[in-house]
Amino acid sequence: MSKVMIAPSVLSANFAKMGEEIADLERCGADMIHCDVMDGVYVPNITFGIKMVADIKPITKLPLDVHLMIVEPEKYVERFIDAGADIVSFHPEASKDAHLTVRKIKDKGAKAAIALNPDIPVSVAKEYIEEVDMILLMSVFPGFGGQKFIESVLDKTIEIKALIGNRNIELEIDGGINTSNVGEVIKRGINIVVAGNTVFKAPDRKKIIADLRK
Ligand code: DX5
Ligand code: ZN
Repeated sequence: MSKVMIAPSVLSANFAKMGEEIADLERCGADMIHCDVMDGVYVPNITFGIKMVADIKPITKLPLDVHLMIVEPEKYVERFIDAGADIVSFHPEASKDAHLTVRKIKDKGAKAAIALNPDIPVSVAKEYIEEVDMILLMSVFPGFGGQKFIESVLDKTIEIKALIGNRNIELEIDGGINTSNVGEVIKRGINIVVAGNTVFKAPDRKKIIADLRK
């Protein structure tokens, strides 16, 4: 698989300074921008929506990795892509028709991913394996940044890697990543690493992004 990419989550950014935060992430070597969209229904927290993605798009050349933690994502995926989402992840159990949701994302020309919560078995991903471009492995229960990494999630990687086989499917991990656990994550063949708190709390963002990639 390709090199490891670091996707800082702007959930941990100062929303009142979003433009500066994005420019800083780009300057510090981020590979993509992870945008956590929460609706207060699928998860017990609310963040931002389509307009934030649209406002971020013109100020960065980095791909926008939009993680939808919302119910009925099928109603909104096309508008997120029009706003500038390059990758759209959603949670299949939140969708009335997850296959349709994947198709809508792909028909609009974006990459589609399904997100697997820590308690969702790999067998769920099997159903979508011929359709998706990426699998997002949640290593915390979605809703908040700064949670503790759930180590047992790594046990799923063997099964997921076997399922992916030779297919051109990226594997992303999200939640509680830091410099102590990222090595194990990368060893498991995960090639996109989301990091919120670790990047935003670091005194030197350029260094932490480089360290996470090691
Ligand atoms: C959790 C979000 C994650 C999270 C990452 O609901 O999907 O993207 O904010 O933040 P950290 O790295 O702080 O766990
Ligand atoms: Zn996320």
